[in-house]
Amino acid sequence: KQGNLTIVGSNMIDLTSFLNRFPKKGETVYGRDFQQGFGGKGSNQGVIASLLGANVSMVTTVGDDAYGREWLSHYQNEKINTDFVKVVEDMNSGTAAIWVEEDGDNRIVITPGANEALDAEFVSQAFETLPQADIVLSQLENPQQAILEGFKRGKESGAITLLNPAPADVLLDDILEYTDWLLPNETEFAFLTGEKHDLPITQLIVAIKAFATQTNTNLVVTVGKNGALLYRPKIDKDVHHIETTQVAVKDSTGAGDAFCGTFAYGLSIGLNPRVAIELANAIASDSVQKLGTQTSYARGQDLEKIVSGILRKE
Ligand code: RIB
Ligand code: NA
Repeated sequence: KQGNLTIVGSNMIDLTSFLNRFPKKGETVYGRDFQQGFGGKGSNQGVIASLLGANVSMVTTVGDDAYGREWLSHYQNEKINTDFVKVVEDMNSGTAAIWVEEDGDNRIVITPGANEALDAEFVSQAFETLPQADIVLSQLENPQQAILEGFKRGKESGAITLLNPAPADVLLDDILEYTDWLLPNETEFAFLTGEKHDLPITQLIVAIKAFATQTNTNLVVTVGKNGALLYRPKIDKDVHHIETTQVAVKDSTGAGDAFCGTFAYGLSIGLNPRVAIELANAIASDSVQKLGTQTSYARGQDLEKIVSGILRKE
């Protein structure tokens, strides 16, 4: 089965400097290396899903600049449907200035540019025309009214909706009502619930149960090198902890997106959510061992090997 995925999401050009250490206020430091590449949470999640074999349509906005033109050919190269990639006049494409330290930690400044111009009207048009989606997937790098419209239209036509609430932000009142799966990392989960950061897993599990039950939303909380926690309030008695293999981290940028895009792909082909998480863990931990964002996603035979390694176990 080939799943249909519609992503109402962002794109950013990632301008990444690899540093020995971050500069202090007023200080100038040398970068060791620089990389420009395709990024942005929506785009990253779409690209990994497409590499895995999903039919991906991006509903997204780019600037009328050189980057905007590069986006169109990039999506075509990645076999992503560009019918609803809109070029917005007089706006820059979104950019992300990224610093990566030697241990793989990063700091990111996003300037969304044209991503701010994604609106409900354009999203609604897209849903009139696009193939019926199995999954609608969004993040928080666009106006939430546009995301809400995508989720409403998706639910009307029987799609499953997934929200990766990143970067952390206060959610519009209605959004969770239309969200089947919420996929935060630990920090975003703490932000949404008002819990403390770095809760021990046992306490995180209690908070996950409470939040999922209260909002009636399925939850997958990623916990970095500890993998992910899964809880479906209508189905599960307990929270499942799906661990991941420990690897040496070079650059964690885009690993969360590799996870979300893979999980969405998994659901779109009808994988059990636990298996979809195992696959998402494996692809994310492969990506952190390589520099860059989309450039660190496994492709071709490397990707097939990871996929068959997980699916063979089932
Ligand atoms: O999640 C990683 C992404 O966040 C980067 O690609 C960057 O563009 C920012 O949006
Ligand atoms: Na990486």
